[in-house]
Amino acid sequence: MARAITLVCLWLSLMPHHVKSQCKDEGNSRNCSFLELRAIPDFTDLTVSVLDMSYNKISTVSLLNVSDDATLTFLNLSHNLISAIYNSSFQKLRHLEVLDLSNNVLKGEDLYTKVFDELENLKVLILERNPLKMVRRGTFDFFNLLAMENLDLSHCDIHNLEERAIDLPRLIHLDLSWNRLQSLNPDALKMMTRLETLDLSHNDLSEISVLPFLPVLKTLILDNNVLINVDIREAVFKSADDVRVISLRNNKIRTLEQDKLPWDLEVISQIDLTNNPIECDCKLKWIINDENIAKKNVTILCMYPDNLRGINLMKLSENELVCRPPILEILLATGASVVAVATMIGIVFCILALRRKRIRTKTCKDGGGNYTAIYSRGDGEETHMVNISDEKILLRDRGKEFDV
Ligand SMILES: *[C@@H]1O[C@H](CO)[C@@H](O)[C@H](O)[C@H]1NC(C)=O
Ligand SMILES: *[C@@H]1O[C@H](CO)[C@@H](O)[C@H](O)[C@H]1NC(C)=O
Ligand SMILES: *[C@@H]1O[C@H](CO)[C@@H](O)[C@H](O)[C@H]1NC(C)=O
Ligand SMILES: *[C@@H]1O[C@H](CO)[C@@H](O)[C@H](O)[C@H]1NC(C)=O
Ligand SMILES: *[C@@H]1O[C@H](CO)[C@@H](O)[C@H](O)[C@H]1NC(C)=O
Repeated sequence: MARAITLVCLWLSLMPHHVKSQCKDEGNSRNCSFLELRAIPDFTDLTVSVLDMSYNKISTVSLLNVSDDATLTFLNLSHNLISAIYNSSFQKLRHLEVLDLSNNVLKGEDLYTKVFDELENLKVLILERNPLKMVRRGTFDFFNLLAMENLDLSHCDIHNLEERAIDLPRLIHLDLSWNRLQSLNPDALKMMTRLETLDLSHNDLSEISVLPFLPVLKTLILDNNVLINVDIREAVFKSADDVRVISLRNNKIRTLEQDKLPWDLEVISQIDLTNNPIECDCKLKWIINDENIAKKNVTILCMYPDNLRGINLMKLSENELVCRPPILEILLATGASVVAVATMIGIVFCILALRRKRIRTKTCKDGGGNYTAIYSRGDGEETHMVNISDEKILLRDRGKEFDV
């Protein structure tokens, strides 16, 4: 029995050398998915252009030793347990155009530019759902990744992009959505002279200070962040003046100031502000009165006041955009101070009342009961003695008839 188990174990440990027969060759592709592979098999005979190794248990990627005349263009290593890729592992894949490394356990600190060494024809790199957390300086560098057009870094828990983390002059689409970026370091993205789409949705951005230089950026997606104020004119259009579509759904924007939105620019065609706490009041009249804006596809759904909730501002008329009457405004504005003053008065009153009570108590104690006043008329004829139980009377009349 033990011997049989040992044999099975031995056989299992030798599995990678036998899997070749288990991979399925179909036309131009070899499919090695769902084979429980723990290491990358020998591919020296590989002639196909598509290789699928998804859904295995590979944890380390070392040299993919394909023959020198292999023309692999598509490699799928997604859904494995990859935590390490040795430098230059892909150096023989000169024709590779698509590399899918999504759903693995790669960390950014272990990714060096050398990992992607000589992938000079790679156009698409997918790293979605790896716990990268950070991206090192120079990880995605044009020296190695000269042809890169599409980089997917979504769902990677990234909170830090080091300076020059991404330096790819041919990149067209960059997906940084579903990460934990609180700000965008403009020095992290370099030489993005061809970038057309930048997806920064589902991050923790509270402000966009200045975008990197993105001269042909067309679509900027900033949905599901915590932006309060977006100075689009200053932050976006200074460095990316060809943006046509800006999506700002699900943020914290309350109002829009006239000089911060570059509506006058011809290029901009669509702005989406759905699901923001937009206050549709008189301060936004300028938007519906602007001819330039009317021509564009603008979605600004009101959140406040209640009766306008869910309605697109662009469909409202000027007289529906009311601000609260000034007197009410002042009252509301001064409401807090009124409460404060009232509280102060209350406190002073209480203190006085307490002090008074203490004085009275003291007097009572000193008095210890009834007073006895003895007085004479001055002519010495009669001496009167009066019992007084109420001290107040004594005090009130003091200096008048009585001489205590
Ligand atoms: C490989 O096979 C799996 C199922 O066995 C299939 O889902 C997958 O699409 C195939 N891959 C390719 C590249 O055809
Ligand atoms: C790659 O394969 C070639 C041909 O089979 C072989 O000579 C060479 O030693 C292999 N290199 C590595 C690093 O395994
Ligand atoms: C890689 O394989 C997975 C699993 O089959 C699939 O979902 C994914 O779309 C493939 N990647 C590419 C780039 O086709
Ligand atoms: C990979 O290359 C980097 C330099 O780019 C080096 O710092 C690192 O030590 C190398 N890793 C290995 C395992 O050789
Ligand atoms: C207008 O913008 C919305 C998103 O805000 C989009 O769904 C819709 O397709 C756009 N319409 C046109 C005509 O471009």
